Amino acid sequence: MIEETIEFARNAHKAELHMHLEGALTPELFLKFATRNNKDIPYKTVEEIREKYLFTNLEDFINVYIEGFQSLATTQDYNELFDDYCEHAVSDNVVHTEIFTEAQGVPMIGMELPDMMDACVDGIERWSKKGLEILLIPTFLRHLSEREALESLDLLEPYYKHISAIGLAAVELGHPPNKFKALFAKARELGFKLVAHAGEEGPPEYVWQAIDELGVDRIDHGNRAIEDPVLVARLARDQIPLTMCPLSNLCLCVVDSLEEHQAKRFLDAGVKVTINSDDPAYFGGYINDNFEQIIRAQQLDLSDVEQLITNSLESAFSPA
Ligand code: HPA
Ligand code: ZN
Repeated sequence: MIEETIEFARNAHKAELHMHLEGALTPELFLKFATRNNKDIPYKTVEEIREKYLFTNLEDFINVYIEGFQSLATTQDYNELFDDYCEHAVSDNVVHTEIFTEAQGVPMIGMELPDMMDACVDGIERWSKKGLEILLIPTFLRHLSEREALESLDLLEPYYKHISAIGLAAVELGHPPNKFKALFAKARELGFKLVAHAGEEGPPEYVWQAIDELGVDRIDHGNRAIEDPVLVARLARDQIPLTMCPLSNLCLCVVDSLEEHQAKRFLDAGVKVTINSDDPAYFGGYINDNFEQIIRAQQLDLSDVEQLITNSLESAFSPA
């Protein structure tokens, strides 16, 4: 029975709502880009790179992720990265994907923002012809100041028509959502949807802030909301989607095992849970791998999986 449920999940047309483009950088692409761009890296083989992919927390991961990010330098790199992810998405029967990009980080690695954004716009056009609908969500770095985030939002102005939402990512602890109230108010005025990582490592209070002070349309992760029954009831009542990422949570020690992952408890409480890959090249799998492993660990049945798939399509920022 479980095998049939996994097969159903694999074949279902689904939406992916939480995937960082730079987190789709495979070790192969890292090596290729670093070599092509004459970047000095302390690795000679894919195996050496993979050995670094053992994390104890989010900050630990972000440091390795930034090292990979710095191998990117050109529109061509971003084109190839975009295509690599989209090929996986299509093969996993994703019909709609909302891609996070490091819009604020790009100028910091010495790359021009248009070189990255043009590659994304080009990728959206090419893949839409192949039946994959793609939306873009630039993310802001929460460990930096709100002023810097606002400057970065201004720099994106020529690309506003290609952007659906803004997001908040990177190191969470010590950087509560309410640090970015003006940023989110401005983004709302501009007509963007709003999302924020919250409750991955941060306390339930951060999820409350994201909902009540930032007014987000979805919460990315949200695991620790489970600690507050009033918050769980609020998420269920208002049908605020959680974009959960089981393999990421396992790799970053947000949970000790997938058996104890919060997904099933949220589902049973009527919360709109979705399953996503987060940083697929770093966490051991794309969206269907996440489905397979969470189904096995939590013995999800067909109706759970149907709910997860429906949730993904209903939580998308455009009709899939
Ligand atoms: N969490 C927070 N920020 C991130 C992540 C993540 O998994 N990936 C890229 N930025
Ligand atoms: Zn994420």
